[in-house]
Amino acid sequence: MNAIEISGLCKQFKGKRRTCVDALKNLDLQIEAGEVFGFLGPNGAGKSTTIKLVMGLLRPTSGTAIIMGVDSTLAESRRKVGFLPENPAFYDYLSAEEYVAFVGSQFKMDTALLKRRSDEVIKQLDLWEARKRPMRSYSKGMIQRVGLAQALVHDPDVYILDEPMSGLDPIGRALVKDIILDLKKRGKCVFFSTHITDDVEKVCDRVGVIVKGSLVAIDRVENILRSGLEGYLVHLQLSDADAGTFAGLQAVRRTGTVSEFYVPSSVFNAFMGAVNTSGKEVVLVETKRRDLEDFFLSLVTSSAQESR
Ligand SMILES: Nc1ncnc2c1ncn2[C@@H]1O[C@H](COP(=O)(O)OP(=O)(O)OP(=O)(O)O)[C@@H](O)[C@H]1O
Ligand SMILES: [Mg+2]
Repeated sequence: MNAIEISGLCKQFKGKRRTCVDALKNLDLQIEAGEVFGFLGPNGAGKSTTIKLVMGLLRPTSGTAIIMGVDSTLAESRRKVGFLPENPAFYDYLSAEEYVAFVGSQFKMDTALLKRRSDEVIKQLDLWEARKRPMRSYSKGMIQRVGLAQALVHDPDVYILDEPMSGLDPIGRALVKDIILDLKKRGKCVFFSTHITDDVEKVCDRVGVIVKGSLVAIDRVENILRSGLEGYLVHLQLSDADAGTFAGLQAVRRTGTVSEFYVPSSVFNAFMGAVNTSGKEVVLVETKRRDLEDFFLSLVTSSAQESR
């Protein structure tokens, strides 16, 4: 069974003067149990709209979303879900400890288990010192951490997180990546939105790119990175006499006695064969690839050009 199954999901918002905004257009998406899926898109692409539809916070114009076999319009579908909304805002007179306990009690957790889990997640998110202070005294990043703590407390099987790294400093971002990787290790499903490709590259199995309400690409992260492989930088130890060219290629740089050659993938095997035959020393081979950022930007730019 898929953890999340989205079929033909559409959402139109009413705009000014009887106009409509197509925030989401016919989205089909299946997220497997145990999968970490990055939902990548620029501002206004429809990420939060999708998440709100899946969480039953918005009614779809058409289509369905099913979580662990239960339709998202039913409250029952959210029983096994940990949810982080975009821009979380909580009852600010409560402390982190009180709020996390409140959320845990909504999931009918046993009192002793709730206390243990609450302490665990509060420590994990580095909120221990502040746990008894009212949240109105918290910084933005601390509120985001409370948002994550309350999503984790009942140890659900599915996590739906709207920009989990938002508002966090580099240490906080690294912490959240570690938490997601830990969930993955424990076989949990994580569906999260972001517009930062680095977040996706480090933790996701698959990525879907949404632009202007439409899914424009979906693939395994490793496939995207592999398809973007363009060539190699081969560093060779060469004497001054033959430093400039090798096997028909021109050196792109020379540092001391080492020359660097850009070798396109198509001629890599032939080039390395020539290196072996010549007995020259290989100092380093680096892959030179298009990264996820380039891939994302090319999709967003081409979609912007098409709609012109
Ligand atoms: N309640 C609403 N009423 C009217 N339009 C809305 C409403 N909510 C969202 N929209 C529009 O739907 C589109 C998608 O918005 P959404 O919040 O889903 O984007 P997003 O991908 O989450 O962007 P961001 O990265 O900025 O959070 C935008 O054009 C937005 O203006
Ligand atoms: Mg959003």
